[in-house]
Amino acid sequence: MSQELALVYISLSGNTQSFVKRLSEHLTTWYDTTPKTINIKELNHQTFPVTEPFVALLPTYLEGGNGVDNGDQEILTNPLGDFIAAHDNVQHCFGIIGSGNRNFNNQYCLTAKQYAKRFGFPMLGDFELRGTSSDVERLAKVIVEALADFTKN
Ligand SMILES: Cc1cc2nc3c(=O)[nH]c(=O)nc-3n(C[C@H](O)[C@H](O)[C@H](O)COP(=O)(O)O)c2cc1C
Repeated sequence: MSQELALVYISLSGNTQSFVKRLSEHLTTWYDTTPKTINIKELNHQTFPVTEPFVALLPTYLEGGNGVDNGDQEILTNPLGDFIAAHDNVQHCFGIIGSGNRNFNNQYCLTAKQYAKRFGFPMLGDFELRGTSSDVERLAKVIVEALADFTKN
């Protein structure tokens, strides 16, 4: 059954954008759900109300540090947080997916974990860089299940 869904993301160097494109295609082919995609980078800090249930996809950009006792200064991705906080958008967000690079050790996907805590929605999963096709399959399934739970209530 076709469901309303949006993927709200920010992508600075194109990895998350590539993942979102492949994820959308997979959702269309296998789950009969063609998500609306919103790239926050293109909005130039504008916000608007999102009316569909959505998942946020957030790469990690932190300034220096180790993620334990320093280095959780978010850079470049803040407009996604502002977009979620604007209007009633947070009410429609049913989870977040983090992306990053495991070379950053404790800082791997740290910003998505921080958003989950800050906004009170679940972290649905993570992937590295552009993500593999098995990441696409795994996370599409997680999204569809979480969406069904979210819209049930
Ligand atoms: C300046 C800079 C800082 C980064 N910091 C982190 C980090 O703290 N943790 C992490 O997991 N990945 C970090 N990354 C890796 C990016 O999150 C990763 O390359 C991601 O795929 C970029 O997504 P995008 O191409 O959609 O912008 C950093 C990358 C850059 C360039």
